[in-house]
Formats: sequence, C-alpha cells, structure tokens
Amino acid sequence: MSHENPLLPRPATIQKIIPETGDVKTFRLTLDDAEAMAAWHHEPGQLGMLSVFGVGEAMFSISSSPTRREYIEFSIKRMGKVTRALHELEAGCQVGLRGPYGNHFPYEKFKGKDLLFVGGGIGLAPLRSLIDFVLAEENRGDYGRVEILYGARSYDDLCFKYDVLDGWVRQPGTVVYTTIDRAEERWTGHVGFVPAYLEEVAPTPENKYALICGPPVMIKFVMQALQKLGFREEQIYSTLELRMKCGIGKCGRCNIGSKFVCLEGPVFNMVEIGQLPPEF
Ligand code: FES
Repeated sequence: MSHENPLLPRPATIQKIIPETGDVKTFRLTLDDAEAMAAWHHEPGQLGMLSVFGVGEAMFSISSSPTRREYIEFSIKRMGKVTRALHELEAGCQVGLRGPYGNHFPYEKFKGKDLLFVGGGIGLAPLRSLIDFVLAEENRGDYGRVEILYGARSYDDLCFKYDVLDGWVRQPGTVVYTTIDRAEERWTGHVGFVPAYLEEVAPTPENKYALICGPPVMIKFVMQALQKLGFREEQIYSTLELRMKCGIGKCGRCNIGSKFVCLEGPVFNMVEIGQLPPEF
C-alpha cells in the first residue's frame, strides 16, 4: 500500500518497552500494516514523528539500525506532554508514526574509514542507529576501526547499557570508552566530562570521521577538543534535533537562522555548523 499523505500517521503497535534510565525508555514498534512494515526503510540518523492519539505528536530520532528490519525503535526521554504520555503506554498500545524524515549520516562516504562516535546522555540514540548499521555483519567489512566514547551524568543515566557495557565491547575492531560525570561507589570506570575524557583518550584523526551527538554545550566542547586533536572540520559530523514539530518545513519551529533543521538536517557537517548563527 502506498502512503501518499506525508502528514497522515500510520498506525503502529508498541511491541516492547525497554527501560533505559529513570526517564528514558526505548519503544520497539511495528507498523500494523504488514506490507507497510515490509516496505519501511529509514537511514541511520533519520527521524520519525510519533503520535499519541488524543495527546499530540513529537519528532524523535530513530535509535535502531535499518539492518534490524523487523522493528523500529525510538529511545525517548520524558520531558514534555507527548513524551510523558508515551511513557505511560504499555506494550500492545497503538501509536501513530509518520516519516522517516530528514537527511542521514553519509555512511557511503565513511566506507574504508575509521569511525569515532562521541555521545552524551540520550544523544547516543541517533548514533546507535549508525553504530549498529556499521557493526552489522553485512556492513562491517566496509568500515575500519570503531571507537565509541560515551558519557552520562551518572551510572543510572547511561542509556543502552546492554550495548555500551556489553554488546559493543565484544565486537572485534571496536573500542568503547565510558564515563560518568561524578564518582559513584558502584562505578569502577572513568569519571569526568566527555570532552575532557576525549582529550585524555586522544584518538588520532588520520583516516577517520567523528560523529557527535549530545547536549549542545557538550557538542561545542567536543568539537573544540577534536580540533585540538587535529581533526579538520570536514571530518566532523553532528546531528541537531531542535524544537521540531511538523517535520516538513511548514511550522517554522526548527530553524537556526535561515536553515530548517527538519529539511536540511538533522545531520550537519561541522563546516555547515560553523556557518550557522551563534544561537546554536
Ligand atoms: S519542524 Fe516544522 S519547519 Fe521544521
């Protein structure tokens, strides 16, 4: 069945809810129409618009890789009306899904290169889609070494612990560095902020692309740290998810200067980010 109206949500069912932290849950969805599900395709870094019927809709990055064809995952922090309503739903509940929207990480360009992922908090969600894409058996040979540096405020705030502390660390050619902001008794790993840890780990810039996502202030300092380490602007990508509402360039909510994040983003190269007005 073709889906002509981009504004019409398609019915989807929550198959599973995975609690990530005290205020983040991953929702695993399938489209109710089997043909639509089979035809669904998103690229790593793209977004989807979820609606809670009777409450409203909001845009989120897709946190699962397109290589996982049986479902679509969104990892969502409870922070507003729609996200609160989503967090109250249970497996089996129906929601609406529009999309996918936006551009994506240019993974074709990354072929043959090493990749450095730097994430903070829930910012790991869009990166996870690309990490799992790159680590998928069918794609792994196309990419070099994978380094993942991830941080959150506390141990409890680390999302995707099953990937960060377990699944990804076991993957060949993959190194994961994890940090939390302040020391805790149960945490024996690194303590400190992401940009400082990045400088400490000091990844080399040769033959590598860096992909960043997290709070804007973290992105800013990580970019500075990467430049200190010798990364050129062209080697750095980030994904910005700002205040999006309609997803199709109509509401005017997501613009930074004259750029609409929903149309031209959310993935930007640092050269483009450097051209954005300072409000970012
Ligand atoms: S989200 Fe409405 S214009 Fe971008």
